[in-house]
Formats: sequence, structure tokens, C-alpha cells
Amino acid sequence: MSKGARGGRFGAGMDPDAARMNASVDFDRRLLPYDVLGSKAHARMLERQGLLPAGDAAKIAAGLDQVEAQLASGALPWSDALEDVHMNVEARLTELIGDAGRRLHTARSRNDQVATDLRLYARAAAARLVGAIATLRAAFLDQARAHVDTLMPGYTHLQRAQPIRAAHHFLAYDAMLTRDAGRIADAARRASQSPLGSGALAATTHPIDRVSVAKDLGFAGVTHNSLDAVGDRDFAIELVAACALLQVHLSRLGEELVLWTSQEFRFAKVGEAYCSGSSLMPQKMNADIAELLRGKAGRAIGDWVTLVTIVKGLPLAYNKDLQETQEPLYDAVETAEICLRVAAGMIASLELDRDRLRAAVDDGHLVATELADYLVAKGLPFRDAHDRAGALVRYALGKGVELAGLSLAELRAVDPTFDQDVYDWLDPARATDRRDLVGGPAKNQILIEIERVAGELAALTREEETR
Ligand code: ARG
Repeated sequence: MSKGARGGRFGAGMDPDAARMNASVDFDRRLLPYDVLGSKAHARMLERQGLLPAGDAAKIAAGLDQVEAQLASGALPWSDALEDVHMNVEARLTELIGDAGRRLHTARSRNDQVATDLRLYARAAAARLVGAIATLRAAFLDQARAHVDTLMPGYTHLQRAQPIRAAHHFLAYDAMLTRDAGRIADAARRASQSPLGSGALAATTHPIDRVSVAKDLGFAGVTHNSLDAVGDRDFAIELVAACALLQVHLSRLGEELVLWTSQEFRFAKVGEAYCSGSSLMPQKMNADIAELLRGKAGRAIGDWVTLVTIVKGLPLAYNKDLQETQEPLYDAVETAEICLRVAAGMIASLELDRDRLRAAVDDGHLVATELADYLVAKGLPFRDAHDRAGALVRYALGKGVELAGLSLAELRAVDPTFDQDVYDWLDPARATDRRDLVGGPAKNQILIEIERVAGELAALTREEETR
């Protein structure tokens, strides 16, 4: 039986509960592909440096491939007694190839090994997340294209405020998601330093080549302080922070979908594939998945709080507390991945009710600002114009009509400068189109934005293909 990580120092085994608490294999098995990649690169470097007999690196690589395939398929069971993914792999490798396997851990500690694995995991996860964000952006872009001419109320305080084009609303999510992708890519950039060679805490006496192994693993460079490198989980904290903020954005989307699909709004339907029923009320079709999109933010924020709380106050360098940073990292990444996929599907399935949206635009004096702006264009100071438009809203409310339902005589009773052309100003589509500046909801601007976003997404796809 393997002595695991404890080796010859120990006489007796661990208390069973302590061993269970100490073992991380239930979750760190996710690191298997990265552990194998890291070990292969480490072995190649050791051989190049003359620290392994010629031929050992190839034996190790072939053995690792077998161990990985068998562990991944379940042909080989994971062993709790071997604590973690690193010892599971190394012990099985040694069973398979003997002495070469026993030499693999030369000039390495599990402390720099796990730091390396986690950074490789974070980089791969970040790349997947950035791809999934692009897919969701593409779904929003399709909806934006379909709804350039769909008018809807824009809201503040969840009160109807001013007319907008629905495309503008969809593109608002593109802006949020673009920032999310930027933050995730940024976290990945800082994860791209190889800690290998930092050893347990004080590097190694063996003449290894840190730079070549870093290159081999696709890292942009190497870490510059061994104490920091084995105790640093900033890259995980940053990635999870970026995931938490992404989830906050998805929660706002979830909330809007819940509102829009409610009977009170009836602005939209999401595909049945994203709804569930009630076990009691046969008529119900609930937006459960949108609610979960809203709720998952709590989980991701919790992951971030867990992570920073673990690292807070730790003395340098490695401490076993750091093992506890893994689960929140995996949870945040896996939660974000499924939420992004589901959100993309839901947005693609979304059907807006143009008539309901238009009716909402036409009910509630949403063009009151236009009246004020009209008077400003005639030379009135804005504050006075605002007062007069407000008085007209009050008058229209009393009469039970919209502003366009007031006669010119009624308008002129409040301000004599009103002319027939004011009715053009009260048309909601024209109201959006007068807001023709970068970031505005004018059709003109929306078409420019759609092209800009489409160009960005096409460039991302090209990058993906050349990778
Ligand atoms: N499973 C451990 C972790 O995730 C690996 C490193 C163990 N190092 C140690 N010195 N016990 O942190």
C-alpha cells in the first residue's frame, strides 16, 4: 500500500474523520487534465536539464496518459486514502511505470504543483467563459436586429419613462457582457505566470529551467517570488469576482424576464423549454429558469466571499486553508457556464409582443419630455418648459387623454408658441430618433451599434478559429 503524501515519517494512519476532512480528491479531481499537463512538462524539463535519465520523460508521459484515461473513465477508482488528485496520479503512475514515476516529483512540491494546476484550470475556464459570453452576446444581437423598429417603454424606478427601441434594451446587455468578458480575460492574464519551481516555499536546489517549463505550458512568464507564488490565490479571487459580477448582470436579466413574462406586463414569452408548470395549478407556466438566473447571483457572490475570507489573514506561504479555495472557484465557474448557456437559449427563444409594448408606450404620457424639449427649441429656458409640460400632463390626466389627444388650442392655453408641428414631436418613434448621439436610442445609432457589435463578435470568432 502506498504511503501517500506522508511518507516514512509516520508510523500510524490518520484518524478516519481527519482523513476525510483532509482529502480533496472529491473536488480536485477536476484538476486531473491540468495535473497531467503540468507533470508532463515538468518531466520534459527535468530530462532536458539532465535531472532525469534519458527516456524517463517519455515513459512518464505515456504512463500519465494511461492514468488520466483510466481515472477519467472510471476504470480506475479515485482513492480517498491518497488525499488529492496529485497523489492519486503519482501513485498510479508509479504502479504502472515504477522508478521513473518515483523520480517525477524531483524539484517539485505539491504546493507549487497545485498552484500551477489551479492557474491552468483558471486560464482554461476563463477561455470557455469568454466564449460562452460571446454566444450570449450573439443571441442578444439577433434580438436587437429583429427589434430595431419595436418601440417599448424605457423605465426608471420601474415607471414608464421615455420611449425606446427594444433593440436598445437588448444592446444594454451587450455592454454589460462586454465588460464581464474583459474582466474575465484580465483575470486570466494575471493567472498566466508559472509558479513551478517555487517548491514548497523556498524554491529548489536543483538546476531546473523555470522559463522553459512555463513556455511549454503556455504561460506568459514565471512568478517572481516563491513565497508569494505558493500562497497566492489572487487569480482565483479575481476570476470569481468577475463571475459574481457577471451573475449580477444575469440576475438583472432574469428579473426582467420574470417581469416581462408576467401577466401584469405580458411583454414577452420565453420558449417552453425554459419554463415549468405548477404541481397544483394546471394553468401555470412559470419562468423558473429566469428566476434561477436571478437567484444564482447569490451563490456566486457567496463563492467570492468564501474565497477572500479564506485567504484573509493567512501567514505566508502555503497553508492548508488554501485547499478550501478550490470549491468556490469550481462552483463559480460551473455556475457561470451553465447560466450563460441557458441565458443564450432563453434569449434566442424570446418572443416580444410588439402590440403590448406599443400599447404601453402610448399609455402614460411617455412623451412629456418631448413637449418640454419642443418649448426649449422655441427658446424657453428648460425649467420653465418642464413646468409647462408638467401642467399639460396634469391637464391631460384630468381629461383622461394622452398628450397627443390635446388640441392645439389646449396646448396654446399653456404656451402660445405651440404649433401644429408639435404633434410630430409627440410621435414616440421620432422621439427616439431625435436622440441621435453615441449611446442614444435613435434608429440611426442602433444600426451603427449593431454593426459595431457584429464586427466585434466576428473578430472574436476569427480569433477562436486561428487558435
Ligand atoms: N490538496 C492540496 C491543496 O489543494 C495540495 C497541496 C498540499 N500541500 C501540502 N503541503 N499539504 O492545497
